[in-house]
Amino acid sequence: MAGNRTFTMIKPDAFEAGNSGAILKMIEEAGFKIVAMKATRLTPELAGKFYEVHKERPFYADLCKYMSSGPIIAAILEKNNAVEDFRTLIGATNPANAAEGTIRKIFAKSIEANAVHGSDSDENAAIEGNFYFSQLERVI
Ligand code: PPS
Repeated sequence: MAGNRTFTMIKPDAFEAGNSGAILKMIEEAGFKIVAMKATRLTPELAGKFYEVHKERPFYADLCKYMSSGPIIAAILEKNNAVEDFRTLIGATNPANAAEGTIRKIFAKSIEANAVHGSDSDENAAIEGNFYFSQLERVI
């Protein structure tokens, strides 16, 4: 059975451009409920930890530097089939390949500055949500 929660970040490019409100509106209009949310900023060390699963990939250092370059919004979202439906809503990692009407097609600037993160599995959604939020910071 597909899980009902996913985790997202509005990345530094979209936050800096003032697109957080428009992106959250698209997320809510697509039927996702916000279970937890905060504006914060990753240190390079915390970004390294969050993206540790990608540490062998050639872009790892750039990704960590980028994700700690400015404020972000982190959120846990709830909906049936949350992980898959959210990845459909945000579109392909590279905005050049993202479908029309997706968040990345509308707001992303490049494969690095690609506006939003979406968990790639139920297991990672839980790990990533726990990385940012305690039980007290969530809607029950
Ligand atoms: S995914 O979502 O895991 O299937 O995407 P993937 O292609 O594996 O990329 C993992 C994360 O790395 C980011 N990425 C990059 N950053 C900088 N430069 C390059 N070339 C690059 N390629 C991929 C990508 O945006 C993913 O970040 P998140 O935060 O998971 O979306």
